[in-house]
Amino acid sequence: MPPLINTISQDQPYLRIYGGRQLSGHVKISGAKNSALVLMTGALLAEDTCHFHNVPALADINRMGEILQALGVKLFPSKGGLSLDSRHLTSAHAPYELVSQLRASFFAIGPLLARLGTARVPLPGGCAIGARPVELHVRGLQAMGAEVHIEHGIVQAYARKLKGAKIYLDYPSVGATETLMMAATLADGETIIENAAQEPEVVDLANFCRSMGAKIRGAGTNTITIVGVQKLHGTDYEIIPDRIETGTFLTAAAITRSEITLAPVFPDHLTPIIAKLEEMGAQIVQETPKTLRFIPAETYTSTDIETLPYPGFPTDMQSLFMALMTIAEGNSIFSETVFENRFGHVPELNRMGADIRIKGNHAVIRGVPFLSGAPVMGTDLRATAALVVAGLAAQGETQVYGLTHLDRGYEAIEAKLQQLGAKLERVNGVPQATAVL
Ligand code: UD1
Repeated sequence: MPPLINTISQDQPYLRIYGGRQLSGHVKISGAKNSALVLMTGALLAEDTCHFHNVPALADINRMGEILQALGVKLFPSKGGLSLDSRHLTSAHAPYELVSQLRASFFAIGPLLARLGTARVPLPGGCAIGARPVELHVRGLQAMGAEVHIEHGIVQAYARKLKGAKIYLDYPSVGATETLMMAATLADGETIIENAAQEPEVVDLANFCRSMGAKIRGAGTNTITIVGVQKLHGTDYEIIPDRIETGTFLTAAAITRSEITLAPVFPDHLTPIIAKLEEMGAQIVQETPKTLRFIPAETYTSTDIETLPYPGFPTDMQSLFMALMTIAEGNSIFSETVFENRFGHVPELNRMGADIRIKGNHAVIRGVPFLSGAPVMGTDLRATAALVVAGLAAQGETQVYGLTHLDRGYEAIEAKLQQLGAKLERVNGVPQATAVL
């Protein structure tokens, strides 16, 4: 492999991490990025103002804010909070420049169509981890009576009034479940989504919609029933803690063999993550209903993991667990079944001394005694986070590039790690956002 440093310009921002230090103390977990993003699109459903609490300060949240503003939503940020006034929507057309930067903004198609009877949303396109089609969203909206055309890369949908329908999803897509659930809240009659995604963020969206007056039952199971209502009203809603950020700090503690506490967390959302960490030798103690204590193992045992829709092991944690597996005793196998191209971190971990081979959608990880610091490039959000986690344990200095990915999804990551005693700094970079918008 050619030296990576050749592909990196001198002034690109990076995190310089001095590895091999133990962490200690407490970390505060932020609100869930994936909930916050979809709830923001859900606010389009109310002819009123929605107040959100526990909104993470992230580049992705700012982008979603810009997209909603382009549709006529008024935004009022406050510390840790955000109010969205969707009373006067002025456009049903989400601009391509913005949608192409944030795939989740496609999910606005459901609420826009339900609220305005028309929506024009560009196809978001693929991303580093896979092609990411949206045909399940489109077919579901068609089943609800929408006329949908895809022309010049734009999905145009019309429906004077959406009608309740029975929709079976070929795959329990998180985004499709969310799009269709939102669309159904204002449809005529009953919609049943079968083989629905069961992720906690889907449940959070259902709870949020219910707090606006929607009639939804079954969220969190594979069958969700929505009975349409005439109108939804504004609400005050607190976003759930981010289970993937929690998992990231758990793996950071594990790989550095550190004892830390984390809060607030919803332990039920972390079942597959906790189960696998315990299987590898760590202990996780629930100290209060929303506080976990992580107790490391001296050595970790290898394990096999397959990523699956919830309640299976989350694909968003694959890269992070793989970083930990690089220093476990023995061989581990990771099978990635959700996205077709989610091993971008593998060559970079190998640059740090890991021994990982990829065969199709499987990665075979042969544990090594230690990692060593190197310049590495993150290719997507969780891949970059995994390189940071690996850098915390590696001997010497690691430079992690690709911070635009990291800043999409981790609020104040270096400050939080520094507070736990990690030695790292951002070089060449503008400091991370500290407030929403
Ligand atoms: C959401 C999360 C993302 C997470 C993923 C899986 C957000 C903003 N993002 O993404 O972090 O990794 O869930 O837990 O919430 N698929 C189709 N056709 C479709 C829709 C999806 O084939 O119409 C496929 C995808 O290509 C992928 C699989 O289904 O292979 C899962 O995707 P999906 O659950 O839709 O993920 P997102 O909602 O995009």
